[in-house]
Amino acid sequence: MQSADRMARWMASCAAALVLAVASLAAGGQSVAANNGAAEKPASQQSERDWWKNAVIYEIYPRSFQDTNGDGIGDLNGITQRLDYLQELGVDAIWLTPIYPSPQVDFGYDISDYRAIDPQYGTLADFDRLVEEAGKRHIRVIMDMVMNHTSDQHRWFLESRSSRDNPYRDWYVWRDGKGETATSPGEPPNNWQSYFGYSAWQWDPKTRQYYYHKFYIQQPDLNWYNPKVHQAFKDIIAFWLKRGVGGFRFDAITTLYEDPKLRDEGVVKDKNGNPIINAYGDPQLDDSRTNNQPGVHAVIAEMRATADRFNSARFPGTRVLIGETYLPNVAELAKMYGTPQKPEFQLPMDTQVGFINKLDVTEFRSRLIDAETKIDGNTPLLLFDNHDNPRIDARYGDGAHNREIERVIATVLFASRGAALFYYGDEIGMVTTPPRRKQDVKDPIGITGWPKEKGRDGERTPMQWNDGANAGFTTGTPWLPVPPSAAAINVEAEKNDPDSLFNWYRSLIQLKKTVSAFAHGANVMLDTENTAVLSWLRQAPGMPQVVVSANFTAEPQIVNLEAGEAGLKPGHLKTLLKSPGGADPASLEQIDLGPFGVYIGEIE
Ligand code: NOJ
Repeated sequence: MQSADRMARWMASCAAALVLAVASLAAGGQSVAANNGAAEKPASQQSERDWWKNAVIYEIYPRSFQDTNGDGIGDLNGITQRLDYLQELGVDAIWLTPIYPSPQVDFGYDISDYRAIDPQYGTLADFDRLVEEAGKRHIRVIMDMVMNHTSDQHRWFLESRSSRDNPYRDWYVWRDGKGETATSPGEPPNNWQSYFGYSAWQWDPKTRQYYYHKFYIQQPDLNWYNPKVHQAFKDIIAFWLKRGVGGFRFDAITTLYEDPKLRDEGVVKDKNGNPIINAYGDPQLDDSRTNNQPGVHAVIAEMRATADRFNSARFPGTRVLIGETYLPNVAELAKMYGTPQKPEFQLPMDTQVGFINKLDVTEFRSRLIDAETKIDGNTPLLLFDNHDNPRIDARYGDGAHNREIERVIATVLFASRGAALFYYGDEIGMVTTPPRRKQDVKDPIGITGWPKEKGRDGERTPMQWNDGANAGFTTGTPWLPVPPSAAAINVEAEKNDPDSLFNWYRSLIQLKKTVSAFAHGANVMLDTENTAVLSWLRQAPGMPQVVVSANFTAEPQIVNLEAGEAGLKPGHLKTLLKSPGGADPASLEQIDLGPFGVYIGEIE
């Protein structure tokens, strides 16, 4: 399975069950005007309580960000060393994928101790220093919290598998097989499959039962019907909150529960009624009994209540809970916020918008309208990329205008209402670089699924800091090769180029933080019949309105935002940001956009 198919499969499974332009950059650059509008307080000075509502969150894959000890693996001290860079970019929070001790089968998502740091990444003292140094720069550190499963090397599981009457037996999901005999384990309890291929049940010869794992065999699922599991995680969360973390990103949250009756899942069929076969040669299942089951919401509310207890004078600043919420529709997403009486996530990820994986204006518009109108006034968290999916170039690029397209995507990300999450390297346009040979693959799914599924190495390559040895990532041998594209695509080169993607990101983030309509304003779609250009208005009471137009095509386009349906009163525009080489329109009547061109202007 190609990586893009992997995403589609995860999503299809769910579905079946279910600037300022201020930085006066050099003339001819992409940012042209200084913001003279009512200046917003920088994020760092926004209220501690609401910091997350307009936050810019940066995902770091620590293994690949910056190595400081020459072992070829990124580390916490490396992140600390790069905090000034993140501050310059305008980041409010960094989300670190798991850094706890782990056998690293799933590169940290198989945790063997939730209260320590993997020696590959550093020590607890390094972590405390990172939190402190980040804090000095108004950057919060968000931890990944994996509650669906542990490593099979976690003490709880070692106990659990040691005997059927061990007190930890019921912390995991153990079941008898079908038709077991003295000499054979029989068949697994039902047809459930792991997302990472093959049966989700693993026979354990010592105690002669199967255990359930939604992900790798080495990632046994915890039993969330057991109250002790709930208490254990509340204690773990408190442990990290006391250390000053800014919140958590909850991994695989929708798969905590499975159908207690163990009913088989349905097979997904194509339009001709034939079963769809996955990369591992098995029929694709509909996920109806193992995903988004009742019970998930109560757990999120419980964790939120735990986190909220830390919003006190002793621990100032709201702690934010982010959810990994691949869901079939916006109605399910809305539920992830909970209710005012029983709040759940502040920021469940809106994967509806970011993983359309096609530059389709109508689709973008409709999903952005959903994000604005169908989540009960809550704050959307948009994202277009992460460590599990091919990067933006591979999912949205056309090969000829990738840079321009990445500008369009970044514009939707930062110029829409809400919090924005992006993945390390997106700001410089890092390119998906999958391994070419099976023997080079590090991600186990790439080994089992080769060649259809090449795994996730391609989107996890080392950060490209400069055009020197190993792109400045390590003095040793990097754990994944540095892509050849690093010669041109790197932070150092892009910082010096006013037209670079890096400077586009910086400008957009500054606009998000400094222009009032961007920081607070609602999104109103304009020119809604247009299938080539996505235009929208940002407006907040008493503040100057801002229009954004992004050409989703390779042909030049002209938009008239005064015309009938577009509905805006005649007005002049002051450019806040535009694509390199773009025109400054005299009025709303004629905004000229080059191929994949973007224009952002304030209505005067
Ligand atoms: C989602 C994480 O993002 C992914 O990297 C991991 O493999 C699975 N959850 C299992 O923890």
